[in-house]
Amino acid sequence: MTRAPLVFSLENWATPRREQLLPRLRAPVLDAVPEAFSEACVYPLVSGGKRVRPLLTIAAAEAVAGSVNEATWAAAVAVEYIHTYSLVHDDLPAMDDDDLRRGRPTVHRAFTEGTAILVGDALLTAAFEVLARIANPALAIQMVRELTDAAGHRGMIAGQALDIGMGSPISDLSSLQDVHRRKTGALIRCAIRMGAISVGASESQLVSLTTFGEAVGLAFQLADDILDADEDAGEEGPPSYVRMLGIDETRRRAEQELDWALASLANLDDASALRSLAQFIVLRDH
Ligand code: IPE
Ligand code: IPE
Ligand code: MG
Repeated sequence: MTRAPLVFSLENWATPRREQLLPRLRAPVLDAVPEAFSEACVYPLVSGGKRVRPLLTIAAAEAVAGSVNEATWAAAVAVEYIHTYSLVHDDLPAMDDDDLRRGRPTVHRAFTEGTAILVGDALLTAAFEVLARIANPALAIQMVRELTDAAGHRGMIAGQALDIGMGSPISDLSSLQDVHRRKTGALIRCAIRMGAISVGASESQLVSLTTFGEAVGLAFQLADDILDADEDAGEEGPPSYVRMLGIDETRRRAEQELDWALASLANLDDASALRSLAQFIVLRDH
């Protein structure tokens, strides 16, 4: 198995990029009206998310071109907006009814339920505004199409609809995988593809990175189910890989997806950050 060279430090790579991302996440919603609503929009954006998706966007651009551009940043902001809005709405009483997210009160607990609905609406809309403002109109349209496919009613929202029981019961591995491919996999794959597209990736680079994105998306969910294993212990509860396969087989599959992900990077010049992010996603402890 190809592993990242020991000299590459993910933290050294990610820290300045997270710092550069932060003002770009804040700026578009600072002029929300009324002023107090800005504070509510910023709250879930600055509350300690790992930034896995925007970092994948940046790493994909760097793997293709060695650098990023303003379109890469727009894509990074847009995917984090979609991710953040999806969590704000997912935590609402009508959905998962969670009081805490990343150790802090959820938006509807810190503010009001109505505010949380509107914060989600604003971030979802702003994601597409940020992409629409990319200077190259053809690139802007391509990015909007990518994000619409991943985030919308065939992608992440379809996954959420299946998750709340709107489809057939999730009784086997393939139906569970379909839910996760849509609910979390699609946005991760899209984050990587948009990074590559922002710097003009070739068709073959895009194919490799799409394969990488699909494997990482699945690995992310396998790792998530392993992290939730304690809370999922026992017979009752929502379907998960750990419930269907057991913890050891779930771990084996996460490792296998990681191997596939890493193998797909062979034709990229400098994929150290992508490799390290994939490893982090599988081995993370939160
Ligand atoms: C958590 O995603 C929610 C899912 C999509 C399963 P992350 O683990 O990427 O969340 P943060 O942003 O780092 O908190
Ligand atoms: C959240 O899924 C995924 C989306 C909002 C698309 P989960 O409900 O499984 O994740 P947590 O447990 O809230 O982070
Ligand atoms: Mg939830």
